[in-house]
Amino acid sequence: MVINEKLKGFWHGCDYNPDQWLDYHEVLEKDVELMKKSGCNVMSVGIFAWAKLEPEEGVFDFGWLDKIIDRLYENGIYTILATPSGAMPSWMAEKYPEIRRVQEDGIRNRFGNRHNNCYSSPVYREKVRIINTKLAERYSKHPGFLMWHVSNEYNVEDCHCPLCCENFRKWLENKYETIDNLNKKWWNGFWSHTYKSFEQISPPGQHGEKCNPLKLEWHRFKNHMMKDFVEAEIDALKKVNPDVLVTTNFMQFFEIDYSKVSKSIDVISWDNYPKWHSADNEFASATETAMFHTMFKSFKKDKPFMMMESSPSATNWQGVSRLRRPGMHKLASLQALAHGSDTIQYFQWRKSRGQSEQFHGAVVGHDNSDDTRVFREVSEVGRNLKKLEEVAGSLPENEVALLFDYDSFWSLRIAYAYRNIEKDKGYADILLKNYGALWQMNVGCDFVFGNDDFSKYKVIIAPMLFMLKKGMKEKIENYVENGGIFVSTFASGVVDEYGLTFFDKDCYPLRKLLAVKAEETDSLYDGQHNSVKMFGETYQSERYCELAYNEGATVLGEYCEDFYSGMPAVTVNNFGKGKAYYIATDFALDGYIKLYEEILKGVVSEDKVINTPENVSVTMRYSADNCYVFVMNFNNESKKVELSFEYEVLCGEFEEKTLKPYEITVLKIVDN
Ligand code: GLA
Ligand code: ZN
Repeated sequence: MVINEKLKGFWHGCDYNPDQWLDYHEVLEKDVELMKKSGCNVMSVGIFAWAKLEPEEGVFDFGWLDKIIDRLYENGIYTILATPSGAMPSWMAEKYPEIRRVQEDGIRNRFGNRHNNCYSSPVYREKVRIINTKLAERYSKHPGFLMWHVSNEYNVEDCHCPLCCENFRKWLENKYETIDNLNKKWWNGFWSHTYKSFEQISPPGQHGEKCNPLKLEWHRFKNHMMKDFVEAEIDALKKVNPDVLVTTNFMQFFEIDYSKVSKSIDVISWDNYPKWHSADNEFASATETAMFHTMFKSFKKDKPFMMMESSPSATNWQGVSRLRRPGMHKLASLQALAHGSDTIQYFQWRKSRGQSEQFHGAVVGHDNSDDTRVFREVSEVGRNLKKLEEVAGSLPENEVALLFDYDSFWSLRIAYAYRNIEKDKGYADILLKNYGALWQMNVGCDFVFGNDDFSKYKVIIAPMLFMLKKGMKEKIENYVENGGIFVSTFASGVVDEYGLTFFDKDCYPLRKLLAVKAEETDSLYDGQHNSVKMFGETYQSERYCELAYNEGATVLGEYCEDFYSGMPAVTVNNFGKGKAYYIATDFALDGYIKLYEEILKGVVSEDKVINTPENVSVTMRYSADNCYVFVMNFNNESKKVELSFEYEVLCGEFEEKTLKPYEITVLKIVDN
C-alpha cells in the first residue's frame, strides 16, 4: 500500500523554507531547476512560516505561497503542506502573553524561540484553528497538495502556567475521582505527602518534590495535552476537507508516548539524525538507527512510514559535526527504506544564510550551485529511487517483536532503585542491545506496545517490563497459552500502573508463567561482571543479576560466580501450547545472540535466516508478488555475502556478491 496514490513510488525531498528567501526571486526560480536535477519530487513547505502568512493579526498573505505551490506542481514536485504552529509570530507573543510557556519558577518565556507555546492556552488554540482553516480552505484541494505536516516536532516540555496547572488538577480529579483515592494510590502516607484537596497539587519540578507518582502522572498528563492539541489542529483541517492525510514529524525520544498520539494521525513520520562515524565502527549508530526505524514503522504496521527529515551531510547541533564519508549518504538514506519507509527527506533544501541553522547540512549550500559533493550524493539517491520504484508500498513482515513499554521506561526513570547511575536504569540501552542481537543475526523484528495484538508474532521479547498495567499479566499468559513464545527478563512485573509494588499474594505476578520466583535483584557497578554457563559455553553478564528460585522450569544457564553461583540465570517453562523464557541477567551482546539463536531455532521461518559478516545487515520487504532484499555494508571495507537464492540486482554494486565500503544493494528474489 503506497502512502498516497497521487504520487506512487518513493518520495524524495526536503523541508523547503522559501519564506526566508522571498526577496531573492532568482533563488526561488533556481530552486525548482535544482530540485529536478537532484531527483526530488516532494517538498515540505510552510513549517515556521506564520509571520509571513499572517503578518498582522487577522491580515493574511497567501500570495507568495500560491506561487510556490503552483510553481512546484508545474514542475512535477508535490507539496506536503505544514501548519505553522511550531513557531508563533511576534505580534501574537506580545499581545497574548498566555500563549508562551511558563518555567517552573513562574517566569514566562520571552519571544524568540520556536516550540514555545502552551498547549492549554485557548487563545493559541483559536489562532491555530483560524490559520489551519484558512490553509485548508485554500490548498487542500490543490492538485499539488499531497498531505498535511502538522506543526513540527511536538514536545512534552513543562509549562507551569496557571492554565496548565488547572488542567492537570482537573485531569487528576477525573482519573482518581476523590483525593482520598489518589492519596491511597500514591501511597501518600509516606513523608506526610497526604493531600487534602486536588487544589493543593502542583506539577513537580526541581525544587523539592520527590513524589514518584506525581512525576509519573505529570508525564502522562503532558502527553495527554500534547495529543489533545494535535487532535485540535487536525480537527480544523479535516472539517474543511476530511479526505486528506495527516502526519506530524516525531523524534526518537522516548519521553513522548508516540504509541498513543500515533492513533490520531494517518501516516507516521520521523526525523532521523544518527551520529555516523562517531566510533571505531558503525555498529552503535547503525543498530540505533535501525531500531528507531523499526519503532516508528511499528506504530502503523500496515503501511509504510516516512523519514521526514535527515541531514544530507552533517548536522550543526550534535557535539561534533562529522561529515558523511563517501557512500554513507546513500547507505543511510536507503536504510530507511530497508525498514519500511517510503520517503527519504532532508532538513533542509537550502542552507539559510543566518541564524542558528546556517551551518546545518542542506542539499544546496551557500555557493548556490549543484557542483558540490553533497548535491551529487543526493542526486545519486534520487537516481536510485527511480530504479527502486516498484518496491514502494511493500512492507517488512516480521515474526519476532520487542515489547516496548513507555510506562515501564518512565517509571524506571522516576524510581530510586537498581542502578541510579543510569537515569533510566539501563532500559533504553538494554532494549537496544536486544535489538542489536537480532539485527546482527538478520532477524527482522517489530516493536509491539501494550495495546497491540500479540497474536501475530511467534516470539515476543519484553526487556525490563517493570510495570505491569491492568490486564497485561493475563494478556501475556493468554498469548503463551495459545502457543506464543514470551521472553521475560530481570526487573519485570514489579509495580502496577500507579507505580505501587505488587504485594502479598499478588507479588511476583509472572511467577506462574515463568515457573521461577525472582526474589532479589543484585545491581552491579560498571566494570563488575558475572558469567553464565549455558549451551556448553560461558558468557559474560553485567548490570543486573537477579536471584531466582526454580519452581519447575528447565534451567538453561547458571551463574558461575559470587554467592549465587549455581543459581538459574536462564530458564524456560512450557505453559499451555507455548513457552516462557526468563533471562535473569543482562548479557553482553554475544550472550544475547547465543540465546536468541537457541530460542529462535526452528521457530523463525528458515528463509528469513541469513548469516552475514559483522556489521552487514539484511532486511526484507514484501509485496503481493515479490520479496525485496536490502543488503547493507556498514563497514569501511568490502564484505562478501553468501546468499542462497537467485536474484536480480535493482540497485547498488554487488559484483561477486561483494559490497564495497558503505555500499547498499537492493535485490529482488527471482524463482529459478
Ligand atoms: C529538527 C527540526 C528541524 C531542524 C532540524 C535540524 O529535526 O524539526 O526544523 O531544526 O532538527 O537538525
Ligand atoms: Zn501552559
